[in-house]
Amino acid sequence: MHTRRIIIAALLSLASAAPAIAQETLKIGLILPMTGQQQSTGKQIDAAVRLFMAQNGDTPTGKKIEILLRDDAGVPDTAKRLAQELIVKDKVIAIAGFGLTPIAMAIAPLATQAKVPMIVMAAATSVITTASPFVVRTSQVLPQPAAAMAKWAADNGIKSAVTLVADYGPGIDAETWFTKGMKDGGGDVTAQLRTPLAAPDFAPVLQRAADAKPQALFAFVPSGQGAALAKQFAERGLDKSGIRFIATGDVTDDDQLNGMGNAMLDVVTAGFYSAAHPSETNKKFVAAFKVANPSMRPNFMAVAGYDGMELLYAALRKRKPARADIDRPRNARRGAQHLYPQSRAGERRTLQRGIRHHPDDEGPGQGGPQAVTTRRC
Ligand code: PHB
Repeated sequence: MHTRRIIIAALLSLASAAPAIAQETLKIGLILPMTGQQQSTGKQIDAAVRLFMAQNGDTPTGKKIEILLRDDAGVPDTAKRLAQELIVKDKVIAIAGFGLTPIAMAIAPLATQAKVPMIVMAAATSVITTASPFVVRTSQVLPQPAAAMAKWAADNGIKSAVTLVADYGPGIDAETWFTKGMKDGGGDVTAQLRTPLAAPDFAPVLQRAADAKPQALFAFVPSGQGAALAKQFAERGLDKSGIRFIATGDVTDDDQLNGMGNAMLDVVTAGFYSAAHPSETNKKFVAAFKVANPSMRPNFMAVAGYDGMELLYAALRKRKPARADIDRPRNARRGAQHLYPQSRAGERRTLQRGIRHHPDDEGPGQGGPQAVTTRRC
């Protein structure tokens, strides 16, 4: 709450004071990985931002909003240089995007220095929102799905697990909170395996996981790497080993899920959004997204980008966002009781009780992620 008040205040003060605002156009810097390993994140968020503006217009306050999209290719130094240029040369009133934690962390001091609001739409390590009072996040934070998965494991009689995470901020958050949850539930994590963020080879760690023979393998890899993990998982026969595969929703993201093959059936994941969420709000969002982007299906990155734009417009208009019925923790919890996976012919998808969480939620157990099963349906 505190953070959001600051960001709204920051936007408002900029809107009234900065010389750039005297101009007719309000520029927003959107820094995303449009190329490289994380490009699916960039493409999803960019598409969602464009959809939001097509639906809501580009003059929320009467002045035109101009999005300056910059490709950082997932490289922190590049992102920092681009942010500097956007702030100093282009005089943007806010910066948004940030596909990876190291990028958000590299740019946060610039936001503080320049007093420019920074809307984090993807990066999901818990510490990011403490890196600058000008940061607000509309995406998840990894302890949330990790703790939800540990609870599911405990509730389903899983006493031993191995963790496999990408070796950087969000992975370590996921590992920490999953392990804590397992221990709190009376179980144990017998091995903690990590893979590098850049160009990971999952084969050796999957072999070690198979050799350890836990009841479950819990995984987190950033959005975009799930397909490679799923492929290696199947190639090493882990889908037939009796080891239960559980993960954060980043692994089975909607952008890649249909290409992951049968090995992902019955995988249980926790996440804050699923394209299969059956609310009317989400059905309309998915349908509009597909009309605008015929070859794409929105994933959790898209919805965080869309929410980020809603936050920006609301701040510029000096009012709180009109939240949809699925994205308040209280309503989300209520909604979760009647949101069940229903079979439909011919398609494989993650049937998450996917729930958008409120941007103010930080830390686990605040209503967002629920454990769900991937089924053929
Ligand atoms: C991150 O770098 O914080 C990050 C990126 C992609 C995800 C989750 C976390 O899916």
